[in-house]
Amino acid sequence: MSWTRKHLLDLESLSVEEINIVLETTRAFKAVGERTIKKVPALRGKTVVNLFVEPSTRTRTSFELAATRLSADVVNFNTEMSSFKKGETLKDTARNLEALNVDMVIIRHSAAGAPHFLSRVLKASVVNAGDGAHEHPTQGLLDAFTILEKKGRIAGLNVTILGDIQFSRVARSNIWALTRLGANVTLCGPSTLVPRFFEQMGCRVTHDVDEAIESADVINLLRIQHERQRKSAFPSVGEYNSLFGLTRARFARAKPDVVIMHPGPINRGVEINSEVADCDRSVILEQVTNGLAVRMAVLFLLNGGNGAHEV
Ligand code: CP
Repeated sequence: MSWTRKHLLDLESLSVEEINIVLETTRAFKAVGERTIKKVPALRGKTVVNLFVEPSTRTRTSFELAATRLSADVVNFNTEMSSFKKGETLKDTARNLEALNVDMVIIRHSAAGAPHFLSRVLKASVVNAGDGAHEHPTQGLLDAFTILEKKGRIAGLNVTILGDIQFSRVARSNIWALTRLGANVTLCGPSTLVPRFFEQMGCRVTHDVDEAIESADVINLLRIQHERQRKSAFPSVGEYNSLFGLTRARFARAKPDVVIMHPGPINRGVEINSEVADCDRSVILEQVTNGLAVRMAVLFLLNGGNGAHEV
C-alpha cells in the first residue's frame, strides 16, 4: 500500500496500514537526523506556512524545523501581529496566504474542525497541529512511535492515559492510533474528566488510579486543559495531585520497566511530580525528539513522498 492522502486532519480516519507507513517513514527520518548533514532536498521549492492561532512550543518549533530540514521555505504566521486582530476571518486569512502560492498550511486552532474546514477551501495541503479538544494527529503518531521504539511493539501493551481526557485532543489521537495498533488502552482520572462514553472508542475507563498505574506498561500523563474547561472539574490542583497525580509513592508501585510519557507542557506538582518527570523511566524529551522525525515524515508523505524506502 502507498500513501495517497493530501491532508493529515485526524487519526480516526487513518487505517493501520497508513499509520504504519508514517511510523516506518519516521524511522527513516530519525536516522537522517542523526547524520552530520541533516538536511534533504525533498521539499525544495515548496512553501510551508505555520498558522498557529493557539500557543505552542513543541509542535510549532518542530514543524518549522521539519520543513527546514526538508529544504522548504517556512513562514511562521504571527497571529498577534496579523489582520485577525482587525477582524479578518480564518477563511480569508488562509485564502490570502494561498494567493502567495503556499503549498502546505499547518494549522492549530481552538475550534474543532478548523483544519477540515481549511482543507475544503484551499488547494494547499492542510495539516492539523491541534484543533480544540478534537485531535492532535502528529502527537498521536509520535507517541505511538516512541512506544514502539521503547517497547518494540504496541499490540498487547497496557497503555494508561491518566488525566484530563475529556478536554484532550492528545487523548483522542492516542486512542485512535493505539487501539488500532492493538494496545489495551485504559483511561483514568476524575469522573468529571473521564466520562464513561469514552468506552465507545474501544477503551477501558477506570477511576481507580492505583490499579491503572500498577497494570500499565506505558503511562501517558495529560495536563489539566484549563483553557478548554468552562468550570473547574475538581476542587483544587493540590487535591488533584493527591488523588490522581503521578507522585513518587504511586510511581513506586508501577512495573519496573514502565515507560512514562507526557506530551507537554508539564504542570509539575499537578499531574506529575518532578522526581517522576525527570527519572530514567521518563521519555518525555525523547517524545519531543521523535516529534521532529514524525513531522518530517508527514510533510514528506503529503508532498507525494513514497515512504521509508524513498527516504
Ligand atoms: N504537545 C504539544 O502539542 O505541545 P505544544 O502545545 O507546546 O505544541
